[in-house]
Amino acid sequence: METEGSPAVGAVGIGELLKRADGGEPLVLLDVRNDEDFERWKLEGRKPLETIHVPYFDFLEDEEGAASRLPRGREIVVVCATGDSSAMVSELLSEKGLPAKNVSGGMAAYGAHLEPVAVPLARGETGRFEIWQLNRRGKGCLSYVVRAGDEAIVVDPSRDVARYEAFLDELGVRLVQVLDTHVHADHVSGGPELAKKRGVPYFVAAGEDIELRKDVTPLADRAEIRLGGGGGVGVQVQAVKTPGHTPGSTSYLVGGKYLFSGDTLFIKSVGRPDLGGQVVPWGRSLFHTLKERIASLPDDTVVLPAHYADASEIGPDGVVSGRLGDLRASVPELQIATEEAFVEAMRREVSEPPAAYADIIRVNLGTTEASPEKIAEWELGKNECAAKGRRHS
Ligand SMILES: [Fe+2]
Repeated sequence: METEGSPAVGAVGIGELLKRADGGEPLVLLDVRNDEDFERWKLEGRKPLETIHVPYFDFLEDEEGAASRLPRGREIVVVCATGDSSAMVSELLSEKGLPAKNVSGGMAAYGAHLEPVAVPLARGETGRFEIWQLNRRGKGCLSYVVRAGDEAIVVDPSRDVARYEAFLDELGVRLVQVLDTHVHADHVSGGPELAKKRGVPYFVAAGEDIELRKDVTPLADRAEIRLGGGGGVGVQVQAVKTPGHTPGSTSYLVGGKYLFSGDTLFIKSVGRPDLGGQVVPWGRSLFHTLKERIASLPDDTVVLPAHYADASEIGPDGVVSGRLGDLRASVPELQIATEEAFVEAMRREVSEPPAAYADIIRVNLGTTEASPEKIAEWELGKNECAAKGRRHS
């Protein structure tokens, strides 16, 4: 889904850049943002991407000196926050005979870019339904489209709903329901807007004592949504309440096997239970969810989370997923035996969340509004939704 528009001459779109970086092309990425922004958030490919950091102001102060820090004979792609100062730098380098291209839209485009990848299904499932994982690479955010026949649901959409609408149109399907796994803290949900535009029900749960001012169609624990028609086509989507990361967290089990686990369980860790300022009660709740609700699922359950920490979690098939039986053995938090030890580990593992998270939560609850510009600023950077302190690796 190339949605960023055609890049200008001497420029490369973020989708194309990621494809080339993932393919291991010997590109050099020149990042011209300031030190703080560069340290906080870097563009990453699925294969190591050689990155050189030379701030834009170094080019202004000493053009020759800054340019001399770049390798010769290699294609250079230049990135900045929004694609403006990097355009100037790439022009300047081109004038000096260096093969340079600007990354259109910069890190803002990287943060918004969405890549749909088909989740491989077992024989017998193929043809009955499809699961698409929409990977927002820059943020490590995952949303999903499940399609059966001419019907589809969307789970955890980002706020740029036009991208989801375009994808649904591409598939030739009719949206029947929009679901969020929880009230997100790292990004503003597109769920309410997408549901409203298409006139379909929307569901999210905040938790009993939390004010939610969104138009929500309630979904009970174990409630099922039937998707697709008859004739061997179709699948059931079951809501499974999995409180802990937030009190209202809900996972969705597709076809009895594929678990959209939200921020309850990731591939390498679990969701942080501290974002409501109540790490102990929410941590206890998460422990019981993992030990009871998640533990009772079969080993062959395919866990499809709402977030991941870095590109190493993207599998060879391009999908971020894990077999529950494998995760039981590899995710350290799943091996903690007692509630007390679990809560203690949570207290130890969580770091101060980004300041904007409280604002984003309020927007998602509907208790405040914010301009698209403000939201874009809040959403900069990777998600920090996992309990472990390994999010900026
Ligand atoms: Fe979350």
